[in-house]
Amino acid sequence: MTPSDDGSAPKTSNITVRRGDPLVVISHVEKHYGDFHALKDIDLTVNRGEVVVVIGPSGSGKSTLCRTINRLETITSGSIAIDGVEIPAEGKALATLRADVGMVFQAFNLFSHLTILENVTLGPIKVKKMKKADAEADAKILLDRVGVGHQASKLPAQLSGGQQQRVAIARALAMKPKVMLFDEPTSALDPEMINEVLDVMVNLAHEGMTMIVVTHEMGFARKAADRVVFMADGQIVEESSPETFFTAPKSERAKDFLSKLITH
Ligand SMILES: Nc1ncnc2c1ncn2[C@@H]1O[C@H](COP(=O)(O)OP(=O)(O)OP(=O)(O)O)[C@@H](O)[C@H]1O
Ligand SMILES: [Mg+2]
Repeated sequence: MTPSDDGSAPKTSNITVRRGDPLVVISHVEKHYGDFHALKDIDLTVNRGEVVVVIGPSGSGKSTLCRTINRLETITSGSIAIDGVEIPAEGKALATLRADVGMVFQAFNLFSHLTILENVTLGPIKVKKMKKADAEADAKILLDRVGVGHQASKLPAQLSGGQQQRVAIARALAMKPKVMLFDEPTSALDPEMINEVLDVMVNLAHEGMTMIVVTHEMGFARKAADRVVFMADGQIVEESSPETFFTAPKSERAKDFLSKLITH
């Protein structure tokens, strides 16, 4: 398994080797909610261009981890740095950092009173101070890319769940983030809409976007992930390639979790 000289991403059997310096560095992170210990000594480095899938039982801390990465949640101790900069506590520096971290949640969270186009241009205009015409031109390209370009003038309620989630992805991409976080982006969708969203995510992964994806979609993990991180009880219990994780999990917790996932 040797990385190619041109820095591209050669595929060996099941692991994509990608070149890249550390982009998200999470060190010794602890998170308490009152007495409850939600994250325990989390160490995780995600390199530029890498796709990491986070998987684990309900309540294991996956969403909490995602939310700490753009400081929707504070951490109790430890550190998180994005592209060499520790996450600032507040103010303009925090707004700048948040722009670097795109986030897509389970619920689509589009502004219901704004059109699809306005939803996508809002951040670039308000936060990045882009000219409206430039923001709209970019937004149209992104909406085309996620397959909803012809819906730009509609309101979110006029779109299907899968279409709304693709708009949410376009909206996050409009800020030109360095890393994209996805927290169970397909789990609120009807089955027939799941693949249209996963396809957009797979394309994004293949284009080299750095991604941290909480999902139980094994097909996505196998197609797009460089690494699977398994969490339980606020800890990272094991991490490996998708192939190894799904076929030969090491820990009892992971074996137990996977056996339940498959039978559902
Ligand atoms: N704001 C909060 N206050 C107190 N406890 C919280 C808070 N948010 C989360 N928790 C607790 O932290 C633990 C981890 O929650 P988290 O949402 O990160 O889990 P998860 O792995 O994303 O689960 P799921 O698969 O159900 O989404 C849970 O036990 C949860 O009850
Ligand atoms: Mg969650």
